[in-house]
Amino acid sequence: MKKNILITGGAGFIGSHVVRLFVTKYPTYKIVNADALTYAGNLENLNEVEDKGNYVFEKADITDGQTIDDLFLKYHFDAVIHLAAESHVDRSIMDPLSFVKTNVLGTGILLNACRVHWKDRMEGKLFYHVSTDEVYGSLGKEGFFTEETRYDPRSPYSSSKAGSDHLVRAYFHTYGLPVVISNCSNNYGSHQFPEKLIPLAIRNIKNNKPVPVYGKGENIRDWLWVNDHARAIDFIFHQGKKGETYNIGGFNEWKNIDLIHLLCEIMDRKLKREKGTSAKLITFVTDRAGHDLRYAIDAAKLNKELGWKPSVRFEEGLEKTVDWYLENEAWLGHVTSGAYQQYYEDQYVKRK
Ligand code: NAD
Ligand code: DAU
Repeated sequence: MKKNILITGGAGFIGSHVVRLFVTKYPTYKIVNADALTYAGNLENLNEVEDKGNYVFEKADITDGQTIDDLFLKYHFDAVIHLAAESHVDRSIMDPLSFVKTNVLGTGILLNACRVHWKDRMEGKLFYHVSTDEVYGSLGKEGFFTEETRYDPRSPYSSSKAGSDHLVRAYFHTYGLPVVISNCSNNYGSHQFPEKLIPLAIRNIKNNKPVPVYGKGENIRDWLWVNDHARAIDFIFHQGKKGETYNIGGFNEWKNIDLIHLLCEIMDRKLKREKGTSAKLITFVTDRAGHDLRYAIDAAKLNKELGWKPSVRFEEGLEKTVDWYLENEAWLGHVTSGAYQQYYEDQYVKRK
């Protein structure tokens, strides 16, 4: 079936995996990747698909209503998969308003474009909003986030994502816009910008630099292989019920410090270093402000209703991730030149 699909944020980490999957798996879909190419967007992530006939890139800022309107007029979209966002919690602590602008206003502008351009025929249309488990707040030692968990976001990032989720539901209830939302746990894998824990630690270990662990490393995250997130988005896009929310997670909780130790063991092996060498780089640093203790997703609904489950064990996915970063030094070099140095200085050197 032919469809014109707008994917926002397709030059970022998860977006590039989603674009790659959709362009190659669905040759009858035209995929329009609209991305502002912020520090996190990188067209190198899309080398494999850039020459495909069913792929188009448009440099576009989702907070610019006119540009988004022009894209809708040009391509007559049947669906939107919305991933563009400011995505890093530490940056949201440094600069909260840019998160409000991109994540809340940007989502509002996209929703409104759908409302206006689809007003005569909503049937067959879909606005798919990609969100995060962080909207649910922080868990104690027990329990899981389900789709019924009350929203309790605690960082500027998660509250801006929560705001965007609320807007999406408001457009469903008020205007009958066909929407679906998914809330996913922490992703890892290739092409992730090295401001996030795993790629930052891989890079630092490789360069014999301190590996910063916030607080005592006791915080827990539920890690999912990014390709499994892209697969889940495919399942939900094609089979999800309108107006519904689906939680996506790996059933894979790790304390940060245990994850870093596992990563150090893998890196020692890959770099042929004596066992225990990389672990000596672990450095405990000042904790993140408002640091959520634990996230854990109950993804039973997605499994029972749509048949999705993760395909890759964490240990295997982490090895593949390490291999990718070691084999793609040029990629890492490009994304860490320039502005990355200033960010690293502000986040890790000045605040020590
Ligand atoms: P990312 O930071 O790697 O990529 C974000 C992309 O959005 C970049 O390509 C950037 O250029 C683009 N972008 C930013 N502002 C824009 C704007 N104003 N207009 C157009 N494009 C803009 O993010 P990611 O980790 O790939 O996350 C993608 C989405 O998934 C986000 O909505 C995030 O909240 C959500 N999410 C991420 C995770 C995770 O673990 N990374 C987990 C759950 C949900
Ligand atoms: O849960 C989903 C979320 O996961 C996504 O919505 C976000 O976009 C994504 O960035 C991620 O958020 P986190 O804050 O959990 O990811 P991050 O990689 O920044 O941190 C993971 C954990 O590691 C967290 O407890 C903070 C800690 N940490 C992070 C960094 C960057 C460190 O100890 N040291 C670090 O240098």
